[in-house]
Amino acid sequence: MKRILQALGALALLGLGVVWVITTPVALTSAVLPDHVADLENGKLLFNAGGCISCHAPGPDVKDVAADVPAGGKPLKTPIGILYPPNLTPDPQSGLGNWKLQAFLAAMQQGLHPDGNHLIPAFPYGSYRSMTFGDVADVFAYLNSFPAVKNQVPAHEVIGLPIVRRGLTFWKWLALSQPVWKPDAAQSDSWNRGAYLVNGPGHCQECHTPRTLFMTLDTSRAFMGGPHPEGKGKVPSLHGLVERARYKDAADLVSAFQNGEVLGYEHMSGGGMGEVQGNLSKLPEADVKAIAEYVLSLK
Ligand code: HEC
Ligand code: HEC
Repeated sequence: MKRILQALGALALLGLGVVWVITTPVALTSAVLPDHVADLENGKLLFNAGGCISCHAPGPDVKDVAADVPAGGKPLKTPIGILYPPNLTPDPQSGLGNWKLQAFLAAMQQGLHPDGNHLIPAFPYGSYRSMTFGDVADVFAYLNSFPAVKNQVPAHEVIGLPIVRRGLTFWKWLALSQPVWKPDAAQSDSWNRGAYLVNGPGHCQECHTPRTLFMTLDTSRAFMGGPHPEGKGKVPSLHGLVERARYKDAADLVSAFQNGEVLGYEHMSGGGMGEVQGNLSKLPEADVKAIAEYVLSLK
């Protein structure tokens, strides 16, 4: 009996060891990054398209910091608990001041923190990993152009957070093996621009696409509507918006993205869409038109 128990104990330990090894984030090899001259204007555009400020806005305790500075700390309610998105300003202790571009790329494309932890995918890196290297590098340069704000955000209120982070290994196997967005040569440049902005930085699928049992995007039903982030109801489908008479035409949808409910457009404010619309309204008109062209091609 004792032998059997010892053997079982050893097996259990071995099992735990295996789980420990396979859930250890793989350190990035120091890949050589392409040469890049940062373009701050483009960085700002992608910061807006990516909606970074919607989550990384200064929290209620942060004083004397403008609302458009990503000093972090605004509570984000999620099904696993309250998260406090971190400070993205260049403060060396509480922000990204000590981060290298390579670390930022690893966060945006692989959901890895430089301390070796998996990042929670409420930070939508599953979509951001479709962004080009140049665009990610420009966002990083733009973040570094903000004043350094000292703001150590509170710890996330998630039960068993270290175990949750380990468990993300399995989610990442599935989610990060889905193909990244690629241009479609059969489509126009503006359609491709819109598709890129929607599927990459805009991370529209994170809310508008239903999820599988494993909480990954069910891309076979892309943009068909997802569960509402506030728990009640559903995020609407983006298919057939003109056919279903939600909008008259592309110009009408562009106007909805630029003006939202101020001009009486409905379904542009609830469940985080209000922030998305506010961010879209800051984009160059050509990009808003490209987004509308792509969205209206979803049938
Ligand atoms: C829907 C909310 C959301 C959006 C939008 C978002 N983030 Fe985050 N981000 C988070 C959360 C939550 C975390 C913390 C994740 C964790 O602790 O595992 C985070 C973490 C990060 C980190 C890791 C920083 C650190 O100190 O750990 C970086 C870098 C980052 N985000 C950059 C960005 C950028 C750049 C954008 C816009 C292109 C963006 N985020 C948009 C929610 C968001
Ligand atoms: C944080 C979740 C979230 C993200 C990200 C998001 N949406 Fe939405 N969206 C919603 C919700 C929720 C609604 C419904 C809002 C309401 O009823 O007030 C909505 C509504 C819409 C509508 C109106 C649909 C209709 O039937 O009138 C359009 C169009 C739309 N979103 C496009 C987009 C695009 C394009 C993006 C990416 C740039 C995007 N959304 C990103 C949550 C989101």
